[in-house]
Amino acid sequence: MRLANKICLITGGASGIGEACARTYAREGAAVTVVDRNMEGARRVVEEIRAAGGKAEAFEANIGVPEQVEAMIKFALDTFGHLDVLHNNAIYSVMGQRAADIDLKGWQRTMDVSLTAYWYAARTAINTAMLKQGKGVILNTASVSGIAGDYMQCAYNVAKAGVVNLSRVIAIEYARKGIRCNAICPGPIRTPGLLGVSGNAAKWLPQVAESIPMGRLGEPQEVANVALFLASNEASFVTGTTIVVDGGLNAHSGMAYARGRGPDW
Ligand SMILES: NC(=O)c1ccc[n+]([C@@H]2O[C@H](COP(=O)([O-])OP(=O)(O)OC[C@H]3O[C@@H](n4cnc5c(N)ncnc54)[C@H](O)[C@@H]3O)[C@@H](O)[C@H]2O)c1
Repeated sequence: MRLANKICLITGGASGIGEACARTYAREGAAVTVVDRNMEGARRVVEEIRAAGGKAEAFEANIGVPEQVEAMIKFALDTFGHLDVLHNNAIYSVMGQRAADIDLKGWQRTMDVSLTAYWYAARTAINTAMLKQGKGVILNTASVSGIAGDYMQCAYNVAKAGVVNLSRVIAIEYARKGIRCNAICPGPIRTPGLLGVSGNAAKWLPQVAESIPMGRLGEPQEVANVALFLASNEASFVTGTTIVVDGGLNAHSGMAYARGRGPDW
């Protein structure tokens, strides 16, 4: 097992990418704290992990509230004794407006949940567990939207770009303390979150899939496979990196096909 005896905590573990990561960590031998504000979903994931023979606990927290971030880390430490892997993954974002149409409240809430909470959870984990342990792994789910711009997702783009650089700074500042930190940048992945964002998913998603060189959306497990590697000792010399999991999307400049020659040419 690739995470035998590891203690992991993941936020947003009740759905989509977070759920796939939680299950994968548990399958590979980790004890997992599944944090979410949706307790029904978190409990479901935990029960299914346990039914498969794994170890997991559900914890309710809104990561936009710093005290609740502190509480989730404390819960993992009190329950399991230490913390090997913190995976920041939950998000909130305003979407569907141009930059100048976003209201201040929506912008600030996006930053609170999707950027500040990632820093605050890392800060808390580093100070209360990882420095004392002399080791630890921090994974941040960023996005290809943190590497380039998308239409109508300004706050999301900015928060994710922040997460990418937060990951680099933590990596260099704590590299000699035994702490690794990396960002995972998924492209469009078939999750309840993605399907929910697009009110008219049926119309929009085929177009999105077509824009991806592989011609399809990714699956949550395909992100979890990368997270598993980064969380494990196999990635012992990997820190400060940004790994895209996007079917080739980020490799494309965005230029229209030349002389009608498309991806099937
Ligand atoms: N799905 C995609 O296409 C895609 C692409 C790139 C990046 N990502 C990133 O992957 C991560 C997971 O996305 P997903 O598509 O699996 O989302 P999802 O909506 O399926 O799951 C997100 C989970 O986070 C929880 N959550 C939301 N706000 C919370 C809060 N304040 N406190 C605690 N929990 C909260 C939700 O209840 C939900 O269970 C996000 O960081 C997202 O930006 C997703």
